[in-house]
Amino acid sequence: MTYRVKDIKLASQGKRMIDWAERHMPVLAEIRRELSKTKPLKGMRVGAALHTEAKTAVLVQTLVAAGAKVAITSCNPLSTRDEVAAALAKEGVAIYAWRGETTSEYYSNLNRVLDHKPDVLIDDGGDLIVGAHERKPELIPDILGATEETTTGAKRERALESSGMLKFPVIDVNSAHVKYLMDNRYGTGQSALDGILRATNLLIAGKKFVIAGFGWVGRGIAMRAKGFGADVIVTEVDPIRALEATMEGYRVMSMHEAARIGDIFVTATGNIDVIVGEHMRHMKDGTILCNAGHFAEEVKVVDLEEIAVRKREVKENVTEYALKNGRRLYLLSEGRLVNLACADGHPCEIMDLSFAGQTLAVKYLKEHADKLQPGVYEFPHELDLEIARMKLRAMGIIVNKFTKAQRKYLKTW
Ligand code: NAI
Repeated sequence: MTYRVKDIKLASQGKRMIDWAERHMPVLAEIRRELSKTKPLKGMRVGAALHTEAKTAVLVQTLVAAGAKVAITSCNPLSTRDEVAAALAKEGVAIYAWRGETTSEYYSNLNRVLDHKPDVLIDDGGDLIVGAHERKPELIPDILGATEETTTGAKRERALESSGMLKFPVIDVNSAHVKYLMDNRYGTGQSALDGILRATNLLIAGKKFVIAGFGWVGRGIAMRAKGFGADVIVTEVDPIRALEATMEGYRVMSMHEAARIGDIFVTATGNIDVIVGEHMRHMKDGTILCNAGHFAEEVKVVDLEEIAVRKREVKENVTEYALKNGRRLYLLSEGRLVNLACADGHPCEIMDLSFAGQTLAVKYLKEHADKLQPGVYEFPHELDLEIARMKLRAMGIIVNKFTKAQRKYLKTW
């Protein structure tokens, strides 16, 4: 059996979800039309660890149309849409993913993907790439390279590279302008709010909304929370980013201070231990805690478990922790990515850009891997521009071109 999914009978529902996403991903559709004629990935085995939901299925179908064989699992135990996983299984894709995997199931599924002996890996967060190095080193000589989707993964792969351990080239798709400026910022900006709203059904307006980290993700969430009428507070460690947040009109303070006044907390740092027991003890009754960074390590859930005297599920994706001091804190989706665990992840139009980047990065690896040394590479700028042009075309937006005189003027001293 080349699939392990929750229930294969969900396939027709999943197919409808994929069709809806596909209809809103015109750049990927254009790339697919082109690649299905030329089949540049013919015979190639792609192993992927991505959030297995509808937009990812459109990416998988695009890779298959380009000639690749794909084996996929999720990059987060809570982000799989079982309907979509069933639909992909029905289409013959090797898929090992279901919502609510245990930690050991999660790692077994990563290994199952690696057992397909992929030529190229597509990763989101680094678990597949690190897994290949740590658990399946015998596969490394045959791996042409990998592509990485997110900030946290690229950070881990750069750490592998600087310790001299990285054994193949990795294209950092997150470094594409069409990725981090759009997906991290506008994508998470919308989808994190979507996740909080779906999970809690509470009003954002008038709430003290604390965002930890004013990177691309944090600033997107801040912008959208402000749009909803929240009183936005930012915590940072980087003085420049803290200044930027101040200039945007947000209050910047330490987590120690914010913990006492915040109503809703969202972490978006890619770091560990951002909200810990010492902060939780001072939080108000009814405080909502959630995370939009890649790993469930930003809100220190073990601390919450430790200081709580009682714990219960009050609503789907909402766990109440009653503290000794009588206050109750509410954690969304176990501290895992709120936008994927409580909602459907980024909007389709955003993932159109990110996954156009992934498709072109895989093709680029196929064409250039023999010339690339092990290392982490920026996304090629010409492909970045190509995707932006395709997107603008699909949106019916026309941009100006330099005149000859302008071009000349810009080069004169
Ligand atoms: P970034 O590097 O641009 O921003 C992170 C910010 O957090 C930096 O400004 C850094 O100074 C700050 N920071 C680090 N430690 C901190 C601490 N202890 N307290 C306060 N601030 C701290 O990274 P980006 O692109 O914004 O990504 C952030 C995280 O979100 C990563 O884990 C990334 O993988 C993830 N991500 C999640 C998405 C989602 O769908 N939820 C989408 C894209 C990225």
